[in-house]
Amino acid sequence: MQFSTKALSVEKIRTGCVIVPVLAGRELSASGKLLDTTHGGCLSAALKTGDLEEKAGSTLLVRLDKPNHRALLVSLGDAREVTEKAFREAAAGAFRVAGTLASDDAVSLLGEVNVADRDEHWTLGAQVTVGRAQAYSFERLKSKSADKKRQLARVVMCVPKAHASRSQTVAQRAVAIANGVDLARDLGNLPANVCTPAYLAHAAGELATEFKMRLQVLEEKQMVALRMGAFLSVARGSEQPPKLIVLHYQGAAASKAPVVLVGKGITFDSGGISIKPAAGMDEMKYDMCGAASVLGTIRAIAEMKLKINVVGIIPACENLPSGRASKPGDIVTTMSGQTVEILNTDAEGRLILCDALTYAERFKPSAVIDIATLTGACVIALGHHNSGLFSPQDALASDLLAAGRESADPCWRMPLDEPYQEQLKSPFADMANVGDRAAGSVTAACFLSRYAKAYDWAHLDIAGTAWKSGKDKGSTGRPVPLLASYLISRATRS
Ligand code: BES
Ligand code: MN
Ligand code: ZN
Repeated sequence: MQFSTKALSVEKIRTGCVIVPVLAGRELSASGKLLDTTHGGCLSAALKTGDLEEKAGSTLLVRLDKPNHRALLVSLGDAREVTEKAFREAAAGAFRVAGTLASDDAVSLLGEVNVADRDEHWTLGAQVTVGRAQAYSFERLKSKSADKKRQLARVVMCVPKAHASRSQTVAQRAVAIANGVDLARDLGNLPANVCTPAYLAHAAGELATEFKMRLQVLEEKQMVALRMGAFLSVARGSEQPPKLIVLHYQGAAASKAPVVLVGKGITFDSGGISIKPAAGMDEMKYDMCGAASVLGTIRAIAEMKLKINVVGIIPACENLPSGRASKPGDIVTTMSGQTVEILNTDAEGRLILCDALTYAERFKPSAVIDIATLTGACVIALGHHNSGLFSPQDALASDLLAAGRESADPCWRMPLDEPYQEQLKSPFADMANVGDRAAGSVTAACFLSRYAKAYDWAHLDIAGTAWKSGKDKGSTGRPVPLLASYLISRATRS
């Protein structure tokens, strides 16, 4: 589904379907009224019938004479003030119905709706996000493609001449983010026998080529030389060689300190010797969604040519049981020199991330954000709406909270104070890799914090937000919108 913006006066519209917003139950938008006049009042006549329901997202198709074949009236609800939720419902309803028509293009007038607390460009980004999410499907591993649903191929969003250039930037950025989200979703949805650590490295390579970025892929030998004992201990149980993927996006002067994104790339998490129960274990193919979000975010900002430097670091391996796998009680030495007693081999995410966090120091980052499907406990704490946010720095935390609100990809701040660190005590090593059952997502973050002292750092636990289970099973692409929005505001600030 392609989106573009155009400063069009109503008389110039030529399309199979014009999407016309209906406000406060009964009122056509300004250009809707003009269109009504040029078409002999047939829109207002259709409204008078009462056939259009008031609920946001309801639609009514009206036949027009040439040059435009149809108008699709879409309701934004009965309230005077249009909420974000009502706007998204309206856009979703309009694109769904417009997609069922024989015409594969539409011109949307939804951009002229005023949404409470949002500027006049927000409606453009929201249309792109809603439309692209609706258009997404993952069918590349089906031998016959399912009955092809009809779908809109092109949407032109009308914008006022006065802000045509700003509108175009906003829409293009939203398209770039949607492309990043789709990439993250595809990588997440791929099964673990396809999406291996080597496959992730290959996907990073394709991005690097397309956007002319520098890519390093460190192999096992180099990890040994770097003394990444924790990462290597997880990778040992698998036949698939681990990869440490380092992707450099340079959009600003080389002297500018980069933001480093670290993504958990466990391409399958069986739990290892502390093996997981069978039910639902297939979903542990999603344990690389942190890694996928790093690639998706870098894709988005590269397409936008954002003026910022970003380094993506992805430790990628499988967590499997085998004769070489770590055993409960094993003690490993991390790259930082700190030792860890592995009490539970299923707490493997923190073991690969701790070495990646130490590796991040060499980039002298302005901030490091790690993204990980780290704990089931985070799902218990926050469910599927908010990602868990942990950071010792209030300024960084508040920037990420704001980015989450801005992009409708929210996170919620969780505690990270000293008393929880107690739970990680080990009688035999500097720390254990798990605490007791209490506050499991907090103690996981506490573990990581011990490797992130050299810079400003935040941790996003996306265990509840990265994918959906049940009949709509699939990857969501979160938190690509949050991260992209954070980097946009960071790039425009400095
Ligand atoms: N990848 C899992 C976390 C997870 C589990 C995410 C279920 C989403 C749904 C992680 O590696 C893990 O297994 N964590 C353990 C930690 C425990 C052993 C302290 C967990 O959450 O059970
Ligand atoms: Mn695990
Ligand atoms: Zn895991």
